[in-house]
Amino acid sequence: MTTPPPKNDGKSPLWWQGGLVYEVYLRSFADQNNDGIGDLRGLTGKLDYIAGLGVDAIWITPFYPSPMKDFGYDVSDYTAIDSAFGTMADFELLLKEAHKRGLKIIMDHVWSHTSDEHLWFKASADPAHPEHEKYRDWYVWSPPEKSDPSTPPNNWQSAFKGSAWEWNPQRGSYYLHNFLKEQPDLNWHNPEVRKAIGDVAKFWLEKGVDGFRLDVCNYYTHDAELKDNPLRSPPAPGKEINFDDQHNIHNINQPENLIYLDGLRKVFAAYPEALALGELAAIDGDLQVVDKHLIPGKRLDTVYSNFLIYPDYPEAATIEKLLTGVAKHLPEKELCWVLGTHDFHRVASRWRAPDPKLQKDMVVQTMAFLLSVPGLSSIYQGDELGLPDGAITFEQMQDPQGINFGDLKLSRDGCRVPFPWTEQGPSLGFNASGKSWLPADEHYRPMAADAQAGDAGSVLSMTRKMIKLRQETPAWRHGMLTDIFRSNTILKFERTTPEGRMMFVFNFSAKAAECDDTFNAGKGKVLCEQGFSVRDKKVHLAPYGFGAIKL
Ligand code: NOJ
Ligand code: CA
Repeated sequence: MTTPPPKNDGKSPLWWQGGLVYEVYLRSFADQNNDGIGDLRGLTGKLDYIAGLGVDAIWITPFYPSPMKDFGYDVSDYTAIDSAFGTMADFELLLKEAHKRGLKIIMDHVWSHTSDEHLWFKASADPAHPEHEKYRDWYVWSPPEKSDPSTPPNNWQSAFKGSAWEWNPQRGSYYLHNFLKEQPDLNWHNPEVRKAIGDVAKFWLEKGVDGFRLDVCNYYTHDAELKDNPLRSPPAPGKEINFDDQHNIHNINQPENLIYLDGLRKVFAAYPEALALGELAAIDGDLQVVDKHLIPGKRLDTVYSNFLIYPDYPEAATIEKLLTGVAKHLPEKELCWVLGTHDFHRVASRWRAPDPKLQKDMVVQTMAFLLSVPGLSSIYQGDELGLPDGAITFEQMQDPQGINFGDLKLSRDGCRVPFPWTEQGPSLGFNASGKSWLPADEHYRPMAADAQAGDAGSVLSMTRKMIKLRQETPAWRHGMLTDIFRSNTILKFERTTPEGRMMFVFNFSAKAAECDDTFNAGKGKVLCEQGFSVRDKKVHLAPYGFGAIKL
């Protein structure tokens, strides 16, 4: 028998263990004051919908004051609310109303960088600023011997294209920015910076929030000697080097980062239930990097990365390899799985069934998979409706990533268009004015939340049903990952606790499949299925079929 999940008091798991998170991209969720931008009051008005899904927590994308160069991931004040989203009173009301419904609130904190309009950066950049001395070392300025306006201090690249260094004439020095030049990197080697960020964490924990999603928390620190990154391969003649063309070994994932995360985590000591959910970006699926970051209660409680963001529908063997790695490297730890976030093309656009009639079955299966893997899972708003990306033209593009590359395909706007609440209405229920920062997609009308709610076979109804089963079946929510088995396109795995077991069987194929029932699926009780049956000692699965079986 395998070990049960870690327990806080030896009896009951912590609230987030095996938990389900719902990611709200606030700008595009619900717009209460009709100005075209989703807001906190809009979200508060939709809490019954989220509670009705059966999830445990809401991750809300940043709503702090920001020049919105990266739509809130460029923060100019960590302890206030941007007026586009509401007021502190609106946030306090949201928190209270969420808690009333048993929903936890996870704030999204961007502590690798600030906006260039943050007071800290303004003072750091301007030698004449009255607080310059205090903030001089709060950002990553290149040393004087490397400060020559004609060449950046090293070859590090921004994840948003071009050099990661920007010349600042006021200070006469380059500064580091892993993303936009308007997002200068904080210098985490400076203990005062670490203390200031810890104070921000405390501020919100004291308000009663339940946890943080830590934006690119493996980017907090850099090699202090500013060593060049090695290239993966020499650039093609005339082609610029991009972030992904390098082994990013000196700009991110530094050993000190782990120590600084431990320090930050100590701030949580007075709030033992608070969750630290880290985003690990650009780790190439390396589970050992995950393992290092993930120390519940001490470092990060859980982390997410782009493990399931395959460009195409995955083969069973690919998923088998991934799950086998998780069972081997992270047997006692809890990953947070995502099929999509506000940063990726929606899963229903990335993965297309060859026969459009099967598209809905494929989408329901991917949701079933997301809900059956061990650890936490996060559902991106609208994925419970099976939405594809919204249609955006080049002229409508807002996302700096797409704009920087001049490429609509790289834009994240498609997954950020307004949420379709109602089949009718000018902006599908997002607001009453019909005006929105990205256009509402007319194609979404038949998929709107109200159109799906009464249909037992809809993606929304299936999602609700599976969430309910997961929440009420301890082995489904908490079981360890065991007994992985594959036969061609059929993948089977189990979730085991000392008290009970669940078996999950998936056909990762657009074609029907069958295999011998050597694992005794036929002896269990089917809790939920799509095109799954056991006949004559054989497991039969329809295209994109699955079965969730209680043993
Ligand atoms: C990751 C966030 O999810 C993304 O939206 C943002 O652009 C970058 N971090 C920079 O903060
Ligand atoms: Ca608004």
